[in-house]
Amino acid sequence: MNDIARKQDQGLVVLRTISDLRAWRERLRAAGKTLAMVPTMGALHDGHLELVRQGFEKADAVLASIFVNPTQFAPHEDLDAYPRTWDADLEKLTALGTQAIFYPSVSEMYPDGFVTNVSVGGVSGPLEGAHRPGHFDGVATVVSKLLLMALPDAALFGEKDWQQLQVIKRMTADLNIPVEICGVPIVRDENGLALSSRNAYLSAEQYKIACALNKTLFAMAEKIRAGQDHETVQRWGVNEIEQAGFDKIDYLEIRDAASLSMPCDKALRILVAAKLGKARLIDNVAV
Ligand code: PAF
Repeated sequence: MNDIARKQDQGLVVLRTISDLRAWRERLRAAGKTLAMVPTMGALHDGHLELVRQGFEKADAVLASIFVNPTQFAPHEDLDAYPRTWDADLEKLTALGTQAIFYPSVSEMYPDGFVTNVSVGGVSGPLEGAHRPGHFDGVATVVSKLLLMALPDAALFGEKDWQQLQVIKRMTADLNIPVEICGVPIVRDENGLALSSRNAYLSAEQYKIACALNKTLFAMAEKIRAGQDHETVQRWGVNEIEQAGFDKIDYLEIRDAASLSMPCDKALRILVAAKLGKARLIDNVAV
């Protein structure tokens, strides 16, 4: 018996096609049950598992999707190298009692002739949007497809991808997709490093450097709360991260938390992306 058949036997359903997903969703609805969806690209770590746990707080059943979405990677990015850990992912989702996994092929999601693009203005523009042109179009396109296929009551996304979360909130509001978008706080390891599938690229030496990222952000938030001006704090943060040994800082910015525009009087967020060897790490903290 292959992995997929064995897990189906244990009650976790692996759905490979959109029509199977829709039929499964219909049966759940007919049984009067609500659904939370956790879209992922696999290589699941405790941050993803926390989304599933929170999903069970929100709804009767949890559907996870695993799809390494090619349209959100630029040609020079790590699509081929992106970690794929199907067996381990299946074990983790089974252990949590996840009811179903949607695990489509690329041709199921993007059949021949596919040309539609969902592009979210405003909040997609700066930071990640400026450094990874087209990335958020790929995210918005695939997430809108997933939400429209599954029509969950709630969908959960990690706050580590803070800007992505704001883009998805904007997109579902603008397109009137009837789903509650829930952000789940970042899960950090014992040294404060935000869990990420890309942490797998770090050597032991690089891991120590990577931990400077979160320490710098938390220290910056303290300084702003203590009344220091944003420019001074931003310069201090850049210097700290450079001194720690990162290869390149793509951005380190203090922004409005919801619109990601330059700071105003409302809630602020500090966001960073920095490169270290093969890894490009992102993190953010609230002020
Ligand atoms: O955050 C991710 O893993 C991806 O960007 C998502 C939301 C699953 C879309 O492919």
